[in-house]
Amino acid sequence: MKIDAKIFKCCWPALILVFSVFLWSQQHYTVDDAPGPLSTAHKDSAGLKNCGQCHNNDLEVVPKKCLTCHQEMALRISANRGFHRDKAEDCAVCHTEHEGDDTKLVDWDVEDFDHEETGYPLLGRHKTVTDCLICHKKENSFPRKTTFSYLMEDSRCLSCHEPQHPGQQDNCQVCHGRNNWRVEIWGRNTR
Ligand code: HEC
Ligand code: HEC
Ligand code: HEC
Ligand code: HEC
Ligand code: HEC
Ligand code: HEC
Repeated sequence: MKIDAKIFKCCWPALILVFSVFLWSQQHYTVDDAPGPLSTAHKDSAGLKNCGQCHNNDLEVVPKKCLTCHQEMALRISANRGFHRDKAEDCAVCHTEHEGDDTKLVDWDVEDFDHEETGYPLLGRHKTVTDCLICHKKENSFPRKTTFSYLMEDSRCLSCHEPQHPGQQDNCQVCHGRNNWRVEIWGRNTR
């Protein structure tokens, strides 16, 4: 008896720890804890059983969970490409939620966008193209149900420029810059 009591005495802090970890790991919120209904784009994720698609049990936003659905972003991040290449951690800093159909899920000023931020600076003649949509064509953009996406399916030079010579020349940049198609004999164009 005495020995049993001793074991209990030495182990109870551990037991309490295990038990509280168990309690803590259980869902301890309800639908009413949400600040409001979800955005139009995320409507299908409404309901208590779906909170865990974006949140942990403490209702913190978990970017990895967003990226489970948003493979198009996950792929770009892992390839270190595109606007989101260095934004894998803090989705909720820029993307709000829970304001129902009024949620401005993406809030940015297209007119005042610095293209350098995409990791693809516009150089040479590209800098002079004033209308984004001349390059960002619907048929080459990531398909979205209602909104227009600036993600490109194919961003190779070939997707916009027809090479004027025969042969297999996939990597245009070996010979061409972005100002004109002239090829300098003593080296590639630098811009
Ligand atoms: C000369 C062609 C050209 C013009 C003009 C242009 N873009 Fe782009 N943009 C590109 C290309 C090519 C990419 C793809 C880069 C990549 O995939 O690495 C891109 C990528 C982007 C991305 C990032 C997409 C991603 O994968 O994360 C955004 C956002 C973007 N452009 C916005 C704009 C906006 C806004 C304008 C107008 C102010 C604009 N672009 C004008 C060629 C252009
Ligand atoms: C610094 C602000 C910022 C952060 C952080 C950020 N985003 Fe974005 N996001 C934007 C902006 C601006 C756009 C619109 C330009 C574009 O399409 O790249 C956008 C666009 C998107 C789009 C729509 C792309 C399309 O096809 O039009 C998705 C999906 C997205 N973000 C998901 C995420 C996820 C997931 C995270 C976290 C892993 C994240 N974002 C982090 C600012 C941000
Ligand atoms: C599609 C993803 C998504 C789903 C599903 C989702 N949320 Fe959220 N939630 C977010 C984002 C993103 C934020 C951060 C919003 C912001 O800062 O504007 C957030 C914020 C919150 C906050 C914190 C508000 C604050 O100001 O700190 C709570 C609480 C919350 N959500 C509860 C819930 C509950 C409860 C559910 C399920 C009924 C749920 N959420 C479902 C994306 C989601
Ligand atoms: C269960 C899957 C799922 C999860 C989880 C999810 N999304 Fe989405 N998201 C979608 C779908 C579906 C759309 C709409 C796509 C369309 O319009 O084709 C979307 C659209 C978006 C858009 C673009 C909306 C627009 O107007 O262009 C952004 C930004 C976005 N989600 C960010 C996030 C962020 C941030 C998180 C995590 C907090 C997240 N998503 C979690 C499925 C998901
Ligand atoms: C998303 C579409 C797009 C992509 C990708 C793209 N360009 Fe362009 N490029 C344009 C547009 C639009 C113009 C301006 C209109 C024109 O002159 O055709 C242009 C102009 C040029 C010019 C000047 C042509 C002239 O006759 O004045 C050169 C050179 C050029 N691009 C080279 C390249 C190279 C090299 C790549 C790959 C690194 C590339 N472009 C990728 C859309 C694109
Ligand atoms: C091995 C080098 C090389 C590669 C790689 C290459 N080109 Fe060229 N390209 C040339 C040369 C050389 C010319 C003729 C240049 C001149 O007249 O100064 C030329 C000319 C052009 C012209 C202009 C024709 C005209 O009449 O003005 C275009 C457009 C062009 N190339 C597009 C492309 C595209 C798109 C790619 C990638 C798919 C590509 N090139 C890859 C060497 C190359």
